[in-house]
Amino acid sequence: MMPDTLFMGQQQIFLPVCESTNSEAQQLLNKNEATEGCTIVTAKQTRGRGQRGNSWEAEPGKNITLSVILSPSFLPVRYQFHLNMAVSLGVLDLLHEQGLKQAQVKWPNDLYFEDKKLGGILIENTINSYSLQHSIVGIGLNVNQLVFKNNTATSLALALGHNLDVDVLIKRLLELLEKRYLELRSGKVAKLKYEYLQVLFRYQEQHFFMVDGHKVQGQILGVAEDGRLALEINKGLRYFSFKEIAYII
Ligand code: BTN
Repeated sequence: MMPDTLFMGQQQIFLPVCESTNSEAQQLLNKNEATEGCTIVTAKQTRGRGQRGNSWEAEPGKNITLSVILSPSFLPVRYQFHLNMAVSLGVLDLLHEQGLKQAQVKWPNDLYFEDKKLGGILIENTINSYSLQHSIVGIGLNVNQLVFKNNTATSLALALGHNLDVDVLIKRLLELLEKRYLELRSGKVAKLKYEYLQVLFRYQEQHFFMVDGHKVQGQILGVAEDGRLALEINKGLRYFSFKEIAYII
């Protein structure tokens, strides 16, 4: 389905089955066959990848599994987290529009609804000397799947109580993603950051986290320019990169 966009999803490749849409996107880039916004959609991944080297499991034909190729050459490497914010907000815009008003983003970019994971984002960048050359934005969103191995996962259908048309959702997602990406490209970083904090899971609340194998209590106070999570622990402010901290849900 053709989205109403300038470039996002104007080139679309549908693969009934593939290992991973992110890997397919990388291969297209290697062959120089992708224009900005090119989107690879699949019904079934045999080696879907998640963050931290995890795999991404999704029941074939029921969910969104896609990757978008972007060329954010305007974005210095040290600000690459800004792209994570823009993409997270684009996916959240879709969830909010579908009626999941309470959907949030768990730092850095997991989509959450009522303490359960609705989807995730895997962004893989190639870097030029100081800016991003290409970004492969992989999005996995649980749509019509009703049964999960993991009881911390959920789907739009479970949360809303009805099935949704995956193709219609993908079309709309591409439109909303383009809107956010254009905000980023036109320098509206303060707006994106403000909105990201508005929808940040457990923002400014006391919760437990795992740090260096210890359970600590703290409060998220924000996100640094480089994407590290700012946490107040025992009245001191500490910054954590993705590998250094885990949420206790
Ligand atoms: C995570 O939460 O760990 C990120 C999950 C990202 C999954 C998507 S599905 C489409 C794209 N292709 C992949 O292999 N992974 C991403």
